[in-house]
Amino acid sequence: MKAAVIIHGGAGNWHKDSMPKANEILEKAVELGSGILKRGGSSLDAVEKSVNILENSGYFNDGLGSVKQLDGKQRMDAAIMEGKYLRCGGVMIVENILNPISAARKVMENTEHVLLSGKFATKFAVKNGIKTISKYKKPAVECDTVGAIAVDYKKVIAVGNSTGGAGKMLAGRVGDCAVIGAGLYATKKVGATVTGKGEAAIRTTVSRKACDLIEEGYSVQEAAKRAIKMLTKKTGFKSGIIILNKNGDYGVWHNTKAMPWAYRRI
Ligand code: GLY
Repeated sequence: MKAAVIIHGGAGNWHKDSMPKANEILEKAVELGSGILKRGGSSLDAVEKSVNILENSGYFNDGLGSVKQLDGKQRMDAAIMEGKYLRCGGVMIVENILNPISAARKVMENTEHVLLSGKFATKFAVKNGIKTISKYKKPAVECDTVGAIAVDYKKVIAVGNSTGGAGKMLAGRVGDCAVIGAGLYATKKVGATVTGKGEAAIRTTVSRKACDLIEEGYSVQEAAKRAIKMLTKKTGFKSGIIILNKNGDYGVWHNTKAMPWAYRRI
C-alpha cells in the first residue's frame, strides 16, 4: 500500500534567488503531510495541514502573503475536494483570515453547500474557529495559487488550493481557485490542481480536463503536459499543474518561468 503527497508553491515569475527558501518551506510542508499519512491520517488532513504551512509562511501568494486587489485590500479564495464521494467546499474573496483552506474544509464538512463567498464566508470562517489576521506580508515574488494533493492508505484522494488571487484586479474579482473543475478536481482515481491566470483555468476547466485525460488512459505526466498545452493554446496564458493518482504516481508540468514543488511517497 502506498500513500503520497505533492505540493506546489505557485507558477510564476520566480527569481532564482527566491527558490531555495520556497523549496525549504515546501519540504517542510511535504514532510508534515507525509507524516500525517504515515500515521494513518487522511489525505484531507495531509492536504489541509500542508497548505496551512504555506499560508502561514507569508512567502507565497496565499494566506498571510496574499496580494492586494485594486482597492488595496487582500481577498482570498480556497477550496478542497475529496475524490471518493466528490465532496468539496470552497470560500471566495474572504478577508483577514489566516487559513482559507481550513475555512473551505469547514464549508465542506459543516454545511450542505459547496461555496460561500465574501463577508458571509469570512464570518462563517471566524465562527468556525479560523484564525484572523490584521496585517499581511509581501510574498517573495510575483507568484500564484498554491496547491496540494494527497492519497492516503485507504486510497482516498484529496486535493486543495489557496490563493491571494491574481492581484491588481477589480475589487471583488474571483479567480479559479474555488471553482471546482477549474482550479482543482478529484475523482476516485486521480486529483489535479492548477496554478496561473484564474480566468484561463475557468474558461478551460483545466483540472477536470486533466482528470478526464487519466480516464482516457494517459499517464499522469502526459495528462499534465496535455492539460497545460490545451489551456495555453485556447487562451494564450501560461500555467502550471500537479496531478496525483491513487497509486501515488505524480505528474508535474508548467510553461511559466518556474513552479516550485515537492513530493513524498511513503
Ligand atoms: N489562480 C489564481 C487566480 O487567478 O486567482
